Amino acid sequence: MSGQSAVLRALRKPRGTAQEGFGRTNRRDRWGIYPLVQGTAFTILAGYLFFSGIVWNPIGGPAFEVDGYLSPLFSPWLFKGQLPWFISPGLLILWIPLGFRATCYYYRKAYYRFYFADPPGCAVGEPTVHRKYRMEAAFPFILQNLHRIFLYLAFIPLTFLWIDLIPAFVPPEGPHAGALRIGFGSALFLVNVVLLTGFSLSCNSLRHLAGGRSDCFSCSRRRRVQYTLWQRLTRLNTHHMGWAWASFISVTLADVYVRLLAMGVVTDPAVFIQI
Ligand code: FES
Repeated sequence: MSGQSAVLRALRKPRGTAQEGFGRTNRRDRWGIYPLVQGTAFTILAGYLFFSGIVWNPIGGPAFEVDGYLSPLFSPWLFKGQLPWFISPGLLILWIPLGFRATCYYYRKAYYRFYFADPPGCAVGEPTVHRKYRMEAAFPFILQNLHRIFLYLAFIPLTFLWIDLIPAFVPPEGPHAGALRIGFGSALFLVNVVLLTGFSLSCNSLRHLAGGRSDCFSCSRRRRVQYTLWQRLTRLNTHHMGWAWASFISVTLADVYVRLLAMGVVTDPAVFIQI
């Protein structure tokens, strides 16, 4: 164990094949645009979600639950009405999706690039200070290895988001209580939970969980089922970046929509069918 610790302590980031020096490269394309756009979008969305989920309610923000639409940032709504005013209910649940996204393999690649220039892009030189970087073998980045745990946890709020579709489609109160509501909000909530499910199911760790620990996919019926599952998850995984962005945007839009409804800025266009 001590030998292994010594190896980890001595671990340094390899030089790689990019040119030495921050931003130096032989690339002729506009390689900086991609991380710039991604970093800007990520910062705006993450900043809004942090403000809305943690800060807005304690300082008197609008309601996050309107006419059966509960903002996904607050689901499941724990200790309803029992928390001190300065604690947002979002605080109790957001650490799970936050931890899941922060440790996601795709997001790691993206924010290492646009926040730490590590590296700024493929085949682009990075700051020499990175030579001291011990990668994900030392604190704090060793915590990235918790990703699989966050994957397991992420299915808890995801399950509640599916359950939240019931009041989104069948409002429990109001003039149309008990009727089937086909509205913009219910459609937005459905799209959001589908995209979040796609994001979770396309996770690299889940793919590894499904297909790992096997040397032979054709040796038994169980192994063949495992192989089929792994193939399906692999197909989803191919588009993991797309799932990541689409679900990031949809969860933001769902929260914004609920807030706008609560403020009376918009009304929910909907048709109701008695069931
Ligand atoms: Fe992105 Fe697991 S790799 S969620």
